[in-house]
Order: sequence, then structure tokens, then C-alpha cells
Amino acid sequence: MNRPRSAELFARAKRVLPGGVSSPVRAFRAVGGCPVFFASGQGAYVTDVDGRDYLDFVGSWGPLILGHAHPEVVEVVQRTAADGMTFGAPHRNEIELAERITTICPGAEVVRFTSSGTEATMSAIRLARGVTGRNRIVKFAGCYHGHSDGLLVEAGSGAATFGQPSSLGVPADIAALTTVLPLDDEAAFRDLMARNGEQIAAVILEPMPANHGLLLQRRAWLTALREETRRCGALLIFDEVISGFRIALGGAAELYEIEPDLSTFGKIIGGGMPVGAFAGPAAHFAQLAPDGGIYHAGTLSGNPVAMAAGAATLEVLERDRVHEQLELLGARLEAGMQELVQRFPIGFERQGSVFWIRFGSGPAPRRADQVGDGDGAHGRFFHACLEQGVYLAPSAYEVGFLSQAHREQDVDEALAVFANALARVF
Ligand SMILES: Cc1ncc(COP(=O)(O)O)c(C=O)c1O
Repeated sequence: MNRPRSAELFARAKRVLPGGVSSPVRAFRAVGGCPVFFASGQGAYVTDVDGRDYLDFVGSWGPLILGHAHPEVVEVVQRTAADGMTFGAPHRNEIELAERITTICPGAEVVRFTSSGTEATMSAIRLARGVTGRNRIVKFAGCYHGHSDGLLVEAGSGAATFGQPSSLGVPADIAALTTVLPLDDEAAFRDLMARNGEQIAAVILEPMPANHGLLLQRRAWLTALREETRRCGALLIFDEVISGFRIALGGAAELYEIEPDLSTFGKIIGGGMPVGAFAGPAAHFAQLAPDGGIYHAGTLSGNPVAMAAGAATLEVLERDRVHEQLELLGARLEAGMQELVQRFPIGFERQGSVFWIRFGSGPAPRRADQVGDGDGAHGRFFHACLEQGVYLAPSAYEVGFLSQAHREQDVDEALAVFANALARVF
């Protein structure tokens, strides 16, 4: 399809931005073609620079649970910015957002703000290392925690492996401190903890892994992690950058009724502005600077405008009982998708307003190594949807998001587009 203005901007971008983008998946390498440059977004819709409208299921990769340009969020951003964008000094807005987070999230007594999810997980790991006096960490294959060195490590095979860097530029010595295990494997986890548990500072995971497809976990498995980490004195970190305030107001910790030692947040708590946070017991955070010797800082941490956008978003989520609306909408999408799952070799997974259309049949995967590549079907599906005005994530491994702004008729329209696109793909 012809998008001359996007094509022109992409050519220009490639001259000054590596790959033409500021974050790799935006470059459309997994689906081919030219990325769409957007000019505006309103509710559930985005408009590109060529004037075409799309029903948006990306929602900026998760933050926009209220949809684009929610009037209350926009209003508070404008009002706050007019009073000064940043002071690099304490501000009442960070207290207000922290009070909301600590009231809502299990185990979050205090909160330290960052400017991204990457910084939140990186700093939570440092806190865990400082608190325990241990160096090694455990992560799970398929879980993404941002791009800091020690977390940009994946498993080789299903067996326990010492980390291999997933990126050039990550020193092997740093990756070697990260052990990668398969998800959903109690035996492998218990075995590692029995052998090395007293060396492990932290076990970090996405309690609802949503970066390698949607790998919904068993509560019994999450409970095993909770028990074993406690037994060994390692801190359990729930990375709730996606799941926080999304799959329940109190995130996965509330949904699964499991209290982690530390939680990390991002996306929704910034209401579309760049924000992250890590949270947990006051006793641990007493060891963080300035009270303690574990360092963390940030020029724009707790930025007043971002804090206001986040607080306004959480206010609407609570006040309007948005999660109940989103569950109904998600169930409607799921019911429609079940028909398509019967007709085409696809799967559909969902938790609340997070969904994943999977290319390949068989039972729902719980581990990264159970996810197939779909033989390029996703790329064809993606473009067939885009042509019909539905914007999905340009990667087979990324999930879709519903927002409060999506209406029942949007879901029904999307289902018709999906059916049409699948008929073209298969
Ligand atoms: C679970 C999870 N953790 C951490 C991050 C990193 O957040 P950011 O992209 O804000 O650095 C992401 C980003 O998608 C994520 O999904």
C-alpha cells in the first residue's frame, strides 16, 4: 500500500537515526515494508501522516490503557507543564503517584521512580544485590526486562544454562552472573536453588510473560518460585512493567495473590510519558541512596508532568472500574476469535485486555521454546490487517492491547478484519 509521506519520512530518518528508528522493533524488520509514521491518536484510533486512520491495538506497547489523548490526562499534562516541566527537586506529584501505587500494589511500601522500565529492573537488581550481598541472578527464557547488560541474556536450550549475551557489547563476564532457566519448570528451578540458592540475589520474571507471545503461567509454578526464593533468601522480583495496573489494578501480584519482594513498573504508571518505578519493603529501600549505600539517581526521575499523567491515569482506572469494562471487551474478542481458531491454524491467548494471536495450533505455550515462528504467516496477516485499517504490533512475538477507548463495535470490526486477513493468509 502506498504511504508516500511515511516512506519519505523513513528515508529521511534513516540518514540520522540508526535503522531509521529509536527502538528496533519499530523498523518493521519482522514484517517487512515501511514503518507507519503517525501524526495523531484519539481514543482507540491513530491517524498516519498520509491521513489514513487505523484501529490501534498497540497502544504504544501498553501504556495507553485509557486510549490516546484521554482528555483528563491531556488536561493535567498541559496544566502541569505550564507551571514548569522539571525542577530536579522533590515535587508533590511524585508523592501523589507513589501513594497511589503503594495503596494498590501488594508488597509495595515505598517507591523509587525512574524514567523507563529498563532502569526500573536494572535498579531493582542492584538493590537486590546490595541487600543480599550476593551477585548472581536468575531470569527465565522469553522474559524481557529491558536492555541493561545483565538482563539481556537468554537461554540456549531448555536446560539451565549460564547466560549467553543476547547482544554484542554485553561482556560475557556480566552475562555469566545471570542464569537463565525455562519457565514452567519447577524441577529445574528447585534443582538450581538446591545447588546454588545461597549465591542468588534475585529471581526476576514477568509473572505474565508478554514479550515472547503471551505465556500465561500456572499459579502453582509462581507459588513454587515464591516458596523457594524465600527459603534461600533470594529476592523475588515481579517485573510488572506490562502486567502492572493492566491485568488487574494491582497487577499480577493481585491476580495470582502472590506478594513479591520487589516489583518493577513502567508503561501505565506514566500515562504515556516516560516513567518507570521499583517498589518494595521500606526496610530494603532504607539501603538505597540517600539513606543507604546502594546508588540510584536520575535527572528526570519523578518528573512532575509524567507523575501527573500517571496519577491521572490511575485515578480514572480506579474511579471508572476500567478493568471490569476491559474484561468484558476482552471476552467479546475472545469469543469471536474462538470461531477463527476453529477455522484457521492459529491460537488465541488472553488475560484481561492483553491478547496474542498465535500462528500455529496446539495447546497454549507456557515456555518460550514452545512458541513456533509461524512460517512468515504473521507478516502476511499483519499487512492484510494494516491495509484494512487495523494496526497490530509488527512482530509475531508481541501482544495486543485493548484500551478503555475501544468499543464493542471496534472489537466486532476488528474480528471481521481478522477473518478476512486470515482467509487471505491461509
Ligand atoms: C516486562 C518488561 N520489562 C521491562 C521493559 C523495559 O521497559 P522500557 O522499554 O520502558 O525500558 C519492558 C518493555 O517493554 C517490558 O515489557
